[in-house]
Amino acid sequence: MKAVAVSAFKAVPQIMELPEPDVKPGTIKIRLAAAGLNPYDWKLVDGIMDGHMPHTFPMILGTDGAGVVTATGEGVTRFRKGDRVYGQVLHAPIGEGSYAEYVVVPENARITHAPEKISLSEAAAVPTAGMTGAQLLEKSGLRAGQTLLLIGATGGVGSFTVQLAKAKGIQVIGTAGSAEEAERLRSLGATTIINYKETPVRETVRQQYPAGVDGLIDLINNAAGFTTMMTLVKKGGAALTTLFVADQHAIEAQGLHGGNFETKGSPASLDVLKQAIDAGQLKVPVDQKISLEEAPAAIADSRERKSRGKTIILINDQL
Ligand SMILES: NC(=O)c1ccc[n+]([C@@H]2O[C@H](COP(=O)([O-])OP(=O)(O)OC[C@H]3O[C@@H](n4cnc5c(N)ncnc54)[C@H](OP(=O)(O)O)[C@@H]3O)[C@@H](O)[C@H]2O)c1
Repeated sequence: MKAVAVSAFKAVPQIMELPEPDVKPGTIKIRLAAAGLNPYDWKLVDGIMDGHMPHTFPMILGTDGAGVVTATGEGVTRFRKGDRVYGQVLHAPIGEGSYAEYVVVPENARITHAPEKISLSEAAAVPTAGMTGAQLLEKSGLRAGQTLLLIGATGGVGSFTVQLAKAKGIQVIGTAGSAEEAERLRSLGATTIINYKETPVRETVRQQYPAGVDGLIDLINNAAGFTTMMTLVKKGGAALTTLFVADQHAIEAQGLHGGNFETKGSPASLDVLKQAIDAGQLKVPVDQKISLEEAPAAIADSRERKSRGKTIILINDQL
């Protein structure tokens, strides 16, 4: 089967011809319609989980995917052949990812039945970014009428977070790098948009919200940048980062809560997103649809944070 993989940590991803995996007891085999691209995919190539989890090489990239179950192993009860599924196919050992025609995953992996009102290819873009947005908001404790400063609002996670926040009545102050992206953010539901390439974010927020904001979700900054943004949050508010750069003592010393955030993927969390999508309350922010052959170039762009919303890697458009 065709797959995009690396032969070693830090190697350049390449399209390869690799053996189709076989279903084993307790697993399901999925024919993938599409994979969703996430920065985590290349962070794994760089070895972020080296020493924490086993890896296999060639390591097939890709955490998120959607497709159709083609076989179930002995003892499987959650899924049947023909089911449309989506989720994070990533499992131990790392290396059997979603940038491939087929993947075999344990039935208790972070997968569930796919939304019905959208295509499988769009569903592939949802799992990591959607669950991250929903769980960040949950962790922030923000309520209707409160303000959220969202740094990196135009990216995959940001584009889901804006919509989910708006649905809760939270006012989003989001960053965008162009007038076009600012317009897209507004259409997703952001209240205030700051073009971070033209205006200093901290000073602008300070001017427009002199009493501070109720929460900060930072998807971009390093430790120094995050510490700076934290000063904009009112006492008792939340300051969260997805980049593991928070100093927990500094957060508490400032009377805030939050800190480093890690997504906990689960079928239940995916089911909540599926319901919101099928009810028409959540749109998949698709930036581009590309082929497996184009995935290595898209990964290089993602490293430079050039993607807007979600990139979908189409694998089998018959599904
Ligand atoms: N800890 C966890 O469990 C967890 C979970 C999910 C994601 N993450 C991490 O969170 C980060 C965001 O993920 P993602 O999927 O949303 O990434 P992404 O889609 O690749 O983000 C790209 C976006 O970043 C924006 N951007 C670039 N530089 C910026 C700046 N200086 N200020 C504001 N925005 C800027 C770009 O905006 P413009 O186009 O408008 O310029 C672009 O839209 C990644 O590092 C990812 O690995 C962590």
